[in-house]
Order: sequence, then C-alpha cells, then structure tokens
Amino acid sequence: MSSSVTSNKTAIWPYGPKNIFPFMNLKLQELRIRPQLRAAFESVMDSGAYIMGPQVRELEARLSEMTKTTTLSCSSGTDALILALMAYDIGPGHAVFVPSFTFAATAETVRLLGATPVFVDCTAHTYCICPQSLKEAYEQIKALGKLEPKAIISVDLFGHPVEYATLSSFCAKANLVFIGDCAQSCGATYNGQPVESFSDIATTSFYPAKPLGCYGDGGALFLTEKSSYLKDKLKSLRVHGEGKYRYEHVRIGITGRLDTLQAAFLLEKLTIFSEEVALRQQVANQYTNGLKGLEKKGVIPPVVEPVCTSV
Ligand SMILES: Cc1ncc(COP(=O)(O)O)c(C=O)c1O
Repeated sequence: MSSSVTSNKTAIWPYGPKNIFPFMNLKLQELRIRPQLRAAFESVMDSGAYIMGPQVRELEARLSEMTKTTTLSCSSGTDALILALMAYDIGPGHAVFVPSFTFAATAETVRLLGATPVFVDCTAHTYCICPQSLKEAYEQIKALGKLEPKAIISVDLFGHPVEYATLSSFCAKANLVFIGDCAQSCGATYNGQPVESFSDIATTSFYPAKPLGCYGDGGALFLTEKSSYLKDKLKSLRVHGEGKYRYEHVRIGITGRLDTLQAAFLLEKLTIFSEEVALRQQVANQYTNGLKGLEKKGVIPPVVEPVCTSV
C-alpha cells in the first residue's frame, strides 16, 4: 500500500489492520436513501410484523420479476446454499464440484452437510470455474468410484457470470444438480438474461457489500422451472421443517427466514439498484483503465466476456 493510502485517516475497515484501503463506501451509498430507510424502519416497527411481514413477500415478488425466477428470501447467502443442498438431499457419499477460488461458504456448506467438496480449477481470465477442468474432475471422481457425483456449485466471482451455457449442458448430460452461487453477481446478465435464471437453482447474499446489500445479513434462493417443484420443501426447510401447521415439524430444517426489516430496506435499495450497478461498472472501468500497461509486471485486469455484463 502506498503511503498516501496508509495515511488516509478516513478509511474505515473494521475487520483487519487499519491501513487497508476500504473496499467500498457503503456509508455514502446509505446516505443517498437515509430518509427512505428511516421511513421503512418506522413502518416495520409500527406494524409489529418483525418476522415474515408483508415486505418479505413484496421483496420476493419484486425479485422474482427481476430475475425471471421464483424467489424465496432467506437469512444469508450461506443459508441459501445450505437450503439448496438440503432441498436436493445432498449429504454423505456425494461429491459436489466447487471452484477452487471462491468465498469459504461455497465449500463450507457442502462439508457442513457431510458431502465432499471437490475443488475445480478456475479460468485465468474470469476467475470462474473452468468447464474443461470440471469435466476432468468429474471423470476422476467417477473412475475412483468412492463418491457419487451429485452437484456443482458455480460462483460468479467478483460479479462475472460463469459459462452458463456450457455448464448447463454438461450438468444435464452428467446428471448433476446445477447450483449457481450468485452471491456476488446479483444484477449481472448472461446472454441478456439475469444470471439467476440459468442454473437449476441459484442463491444470493444480501451481505451489505454485495451488489444488492441490506443492513445486516440476508439472502435468497431463485428457483427456475427445473427446481420449482422444490418450493414447498424449501419453505418448510427455512422454518425448522415446518409442516402444514405451526409446530408441526415434518423434516429437519433451519431458522432461515429473512427479517422483515431487512426486506423493507432491500425494497428501498431496489429503487436505486440499476443506478448502483452502473456506478459500480464506472468504478471498475476506472480501475481497469488505470491498470493498463502493467501487463509486463504481471498485472492483468479482469475481463468482461462479450456475452456478459458484470457487477
Ligand atoms: C461466493 C459467495 N458465496 C456465499 C457467500 C455467503 O454469503 P453470506 O455472507 O450472506 O452468508 C458469499 C459472501 O461473501 C460469497 O461471496
């Protein structure tokens, strides 16, 4: 870090050494809509519907429209992955292919459920899972015969979509469940369509620094046509395996609901979302242009593939 950065007294980074350059200015973003957030807060407090209030359903409807899926909100991006894996009964004896470069949760959730994460190389230009390496890893696992290849979790790392077309057709041929971890890519598109609409089931995170972030923890599951039959099971899993009636529990589940307050905040965040995405791209372009000419020193800015938009 240069001295001009380390001496920046306004930098706020609560998780590590104080001289790290702040990742993004969330405060500035929040100040843009502070009055609307206050109003949203008051409306939830006035209603007293702290859990599963009407804002949760409204948010799910808005996100379903935006992503062309059936959206179920939940408590975090990690819980979204857990719920997706649980919905497909993934557990001991199953191999789940994950990229070798991602946030811990992608592999952690697989392990948490007793399945085995199999790490797959990423491409050098997008840092996303490499379809050829996936095929090789799949064949190796098949040949070893110890684990049943069951699913892949792809990750749109740093907001760049994976090769959805190639991965989808491979998963269909290999009979693998295709889970798209879109925690970092809400708002990105592939072939002009929202990233959440390509896998069997997609997940996202509303962690504050994510493209669509709330002011606490939150997440969502996006069910495509291929997984819409899992909707009721997922709704049950998200509330301790609840059955038709309250306090009737028909399976093991988790406390996986999104708070009404976070849903209300997210509805406000959605009103500025497309603008925020454009602003993010502007910042990314500035970095990319600023880093040009440093290839010989090994600095290669990430690319955005022509069929994609990134966030
Ligand atoms: C790729 C990826 N998957 C999953 C998660 C987990 O999301 P959360 O922090 O909401 O649990 C994250 C969050 O950083 C992520 O980047």
